[in-house]
Amino acid sequence: MALPSEVLWNRDPHTEAKHAMLAEYLKAWFPIMASSWASTGITYVDAFAGPGEYTDGGWGSPVIALRAATAPGVSGHETELRMVFIEERADRLDHLTGLIERCQLSSHRTKLTTVNARCQESLLPVLEAAGAWGGPMFVNLDGWGVDTPYAIVERVGKNRSSEVLVTVQTQWFTRFASLDDVTAGDLVFGSTDWRAVADLPTESKKSFLVSHYLARLADAGFPHTLTFEMVDEGGHELLLVFGTTSSLGVDKMKNAMWSVDKVNGQRFRDPRDVNQLSFEVVNNNPDLTLLRRQIMDLLDGGERSLAALKDHALLQTVFKKTHVDPAVRQLADEGRVERTSAKSHEGVVVRLAPVALF
Ligand SMILES: C[S@@+](CC[C@H](N)C(=O)[O-])C[C@H]1O[C@@H](n2cnc3c(N)ncnc32)[C@H](O)[C@@H]1O
Repeated sequence: MALPSEVLWNRDPHTEAKHAMLAEYLKAWFPIMASSWASTGITYVDAFAGPGEYTDGGWGSPVIALRAATAPGVSGHETELRMVFIEERADRLDHLTGLIERCQLSSHRTKLTTVNARCQESLLPVLEAAGAWGGPMFVNLDGWGVDTPYAIVERVGKNRSSEVLVTVQTQWFTRFASLDDVTAGDLVFGSTDWRAVADLPTESKKSFLVSHYLARLADAGFPHTLTFEMVDEGGHELLLVFGTTSSLGVDKMKNAMWSVDKVNGQRFRDPRDVNQLSFEVVNNNPDLTLLRRQIMDLLDGGERSLAALKDHALLQTVFKKTHVDPAVRQLADEGRVERTSAKSHEGVVVRLAPVALF
């Protein structure tokens, strides 16, 4: 992928979908956090900030975050809202700061820190200087490739109630598949275990690397993760990885993901799925093929309560809890699973239907 050299560039459909999702998520994150963390304040970080807008007129992520931070449901709280924007290109950072001033995007409650530097070296000291540690933070790591050192993710993971959203251009991730860039891989994964990828068949490499990265996020202090891949009409791929300490965070991010059905032409994938089945994100009558397969795989290991299937869907798949009922109903209608009856809906147990012998 050729990287843009101008100050502003055109926003591709992935980025538009990612921005729709980020706006939806931050609309929930800022009011929830601001209402409970007045004593410490909260911090939004854009470690690869960009210029704040695109040539097609779309807002960049720092502006999306500022708009969410200054919305009425947030500004009513006493909580300090630290907004940290790091950008290595001075001309892009100048554009962003000019835009914030011109459009009066900050308020008396927002404490703005803008830094012209590489985030790899500057992020941790900048957060120290901003007094961010000890209060929750949302760290948007939206670089061109996959260059976020594990040490940064690990430090954020040690901080209370913090979250990371890492953007990965899938084609950059594949440079690790054949150990082409061992130094970068060791830095991103924070260990050498990922090098086991070299011995795997081609079709398993991506799902291994993604699963391994999720496991490393869990090691870093993010027990809950959500990952999905967006694929546009030209076949370009963008992988998003979200890490949080809260299952509510996963729920909100998933709702945000499923809200991007308004952005046309995007298909989604679970990058851990070796079959790479893609589906549209539509709230009305969604394609549940992948979830049905995931439920069948789980039931292969033994029966599960409906409640357990819903928790599994929330925390281990790209689907929402509400998708489980229709998926199980479809499987039962096809005679592939059976459900026990129970007094409460949640007490229902689901198991594989016995195989017909004749
Ligand atoms: C994909 S764009 C980010 C766009 C922005 N987050 C948004 O959604 O509107 C990546 C930006 O990071 C900047 N950048 C690249 N490497 C960087 C680094 N190591 N540290 C900080 N900024 C960097 C680039 O100049 C570019 O503006």
